[in-house]
Amino acid sequence: MEFEEVKKGLAGVIVDDTAIASTDSSGTLIYRGYVAEELAERSTFEEVAHLVVYGHLPNKKERLKFSNLLSRNSRVAPNIDKIMGLLPRNAPAIDVLRSIVSMMPLNENEDDGKLLEIAAKMPRIMSDWHRLSKGSLPLRSTDGTYAERFYYLLTGSKNKSDARLLEELLILYMEHEFNASTFTLRVAASTLTDPQAAMTAALAAIKGPLHGGANAEILDYLLQMKSTSEARRYVDAKLRKKEKIMGFGHRIYKNKDPRAQYLKERLRVFAAAKGAEKLYDIATAIEDEMWKMKNIPANMDFYAAICLYLMGIDSSFNTPIFAASRSFGWTAHYLEQVSNNKLIRPSSRYIGPVGMHL
Ligand code: COA
Repeated sequence: MEFEEVKKGLAGVIVDDTAIASTDSSGTLIYRGYVAEELAERSTFEEVAHLVVYGHLPNKKERLKFSNLLSRNSRVAPNIDKIMGLLPRNAPAIDVLRSIVSMMPLNENEDDGKLLEIAAKMPRIMSDWHRLSKGSLPLRSTDGTYAERFYYLLTGSKNKSDARLLEELLILYMEHEFNASTFTLRVAASTLTDPQAAMTAALAAIKGPLHGGANAEILDYLLQMKSTSEARRYVDAKLRKKEKIMGFGHRIYKNKDPRAQYLKERLRVFAAAKGAEKLYDIATAIEDEMWKMKNIPANMDFYAAICLYLMGIDSSFNTPIFAASRSFGWTAHYLEQVSNNKLIRPSSRYIGPVGMHL
């Protein structure tokens, strides 16, 4: 029998067409034809989410309708908080988000409405969980933009400039073509399961430390470091032991992650305003050393985790924040998959025994 080459991890394998986003190894990320960093700098979250989901930037009427849909659906039913009250207090926020998303009742009828309803509720689910698990009353807000609401629900603060940085970060997290969680969602969607089930599958995949879970682990090592020389020694020791450093490396971006570089520049200014220049210097020393020793670039999670920390956001939120933003990308991918569906069912190369008999 002739064997075809196995592409482990599907690296480099093109499995389908998409018109939603494109990446390339030189460090480009495009949403529906627009450069992601330009969208982050000049657009609102709602505008970019509309672009990603429906394929075009909204006109005034569409923008209002879309914003209203997100705001109207941002509340969660009271029985959801009761269900949360039954969960173990130390359950990770991403697990709670996945569990609640899997079973919450939905009001919208069409597939896009259902998916956006789930996406719109994620900030409130994670905020309610965080507060309930600490014994505080939930925060209530449907005011402001999606990012302002989200920032308030995470921190209890209405600081508009921090909320704007969160908005830029959310825009950059929103979409990334066939990454692991999106591909998981597309596999589920290809069976013609319902949108809620497909979203739940994506939430399961994003949790892993090689994907979305990485952003929750970065501060664990970063905040231990007292100086740039200690940071360099840390990198050298980890690489010598052949251990991975979270927040570095990427399947596509081998030279630079454009989202990381955008946030790095925003962090430089933000850290100076917060009196956290030393943290910025330590972070860039780690990045430089990783590049010098192994030519591995920082990925978006590295700088996103530091920005979120300086915004005063609890790091248990990091992965759910990523998921909440990416849920708009997942929405687009669900709709694209079912609009031109073929069951995703690859083949495997059997390497087990043959000819066995009882
Ligand atoms: N720290 C140290 N070494 C790393 C590394 C990291 N973060 N990421 C990759 N490498 C090394 C691997 O050890 C391997 O080295 P080798 O060739 O000497 O064995 C080489 O780079 C290739 O890595 P590999 O894991 O095979 O590449 P990949 O394309 O399959 O993996 C990731 C991409 C993202 C899974 C990987 O870079 C990683 O695990 N990063 C850390 C987790 C993370 O930050 N995830 C968020 C991604 S946005």
